[in-house]
Amino acid sequence: MFAVATDKLRPGKILAEEVRDINGRLLLARGNEIGDNHIRIFKIWGVSEVTVEGPAMGNDKIDPEISPEMFEQVRETVKDIFQHTDQEHPLVKKLFNLAVQFRCEHNLIDVQSRVFINEQEINPGDRNKSFVERLNKREIVLPEIPSVVFELNEVIANPMSSAAHIARVVNRSPSLTALLLKIVNSSFYGFPSKIDKVSHAVTLIGTREISGLALGISILSIFKNIPKEMIDMYSYLKHSLACGILSRILAAQKNFGQTEQLFVSGLLHDLGRLILYLYFTEESRNILSRARNGNKLLYKEEHDYLGCDHAQVGKQLMEQWKLPLILENNVLHHHNPSEAQQPIPATIVHLADIIVNSLGIGSSGEKFVPPLDTDAWENLDLPLSGFDTAIGQTTHQFYALESILQL
Ligand SMILES: [Fe+2]
Ligand SMILES: [Fe+2]
Repeated sequence: MFAVATDKLRPGKILAEEVRDINGRLLLARGNEIGDNHIRIFKIWGVSEVTVEGPAMGNDKIDPEISPEMFEQVRETVKDIFQHTDQEHPLVKKLFNLAVQFRCEHNLIDVQSRVFINEQEINPGDRNKSFVERLNKREIVLPEIPSVVFELNEVIANPMSSAAHIARVVNRSPSLTALLLKIVNSSFYGFPSKIDKVSHAVTLIGTREISGLALGISILSIFKNIPKEMIDMYSYLKHSLACGILSRILAAQKNFGQTEQLFVSGLLHDLGRLILYLYFTEESRNILSRARNGNKLLYKEEHDYLGCDHAQVGKQLMEQWKLPLILENNVLHHHNPSEAQQPIPATIVHLADIIVNSLGIGSSGEKFVPPLDTDAWENLDLPLSGFDTAIGQTTHQFYALESILQL
């Protein structure tokens, strides 16, 4: 018997080991012949590979279309973007190999789209350390909380909230209603018949999950009109969604109870960047200009220029909007989770960010893989062996949800 990646699986093979979903539910017992419908179900539930009977015909995991030249080119790109990480660390080594394999399979040879930006002179007195002081003293005005976000937040905070209550809040926003119905009807959930009412969607998916999803989407849609030269919003949303999905999967692997909180944290972890781009455009232009022309990590450039980075700006907005404290914790510390009050959930978002940057699924403007907080990783105590499955599940769920990104 041998393992086959679900993407390469063809009907007719005999299953040698049973296949279960992330919650341990049996999808197919061993000894069954695998049909087209089974392959579809494996993909929906994020099963990355299965074990089948018979002798292996070469290595089924490696795509024969990948030439040695392409492999080398991808390896060089990955080496370059891993330059701020400790490449001797076992986790980084593992991620390096997964990144090369993933980028080859998905044809991501060079995903960096770098629009050149000229740096413009800004009086140093108008920027730098004064930014963080002004931010802390609340002299910097951040956007007001939109009413739909406020109401969703109330629903999340109230354990007595009913499906009817959340449906009432969502129904007040036509664009949010349309988007949520699009999500529940996507192949991600795979419901057999069309769902056309929010109340029905909430009953099927659950109050907490749907309000978290609605909250994240509503917040990100506020920032959709940022100039393209600053950031490719589609790419930013891909990065955010993939981080949200992977955070939720890692949280489930860790048996962390409220996985939807991790999904929202992953979705919003780089929100501070959007605030900077939209409200501090001149400063952001200069920061991006330096980062795109240089070799420093973007969040370090932000820190050098403003005295704080996007994680602090994002946290400030969440505090002002009175979003759950766990979101503040995870967003503020997604680059240094061992300093968080609650390090475990912050480490999950930190890892998801590193992995998604390694794989090259979208980008929030950072061209390098951020360095690993090794203390936090050791405290998390997550086996490396679960990473292949987590990445397989993330890509399947991501592609099933990708259509929602046209905000
Ligand atoms: Fe970040
Ligand atoms: Fe990120």
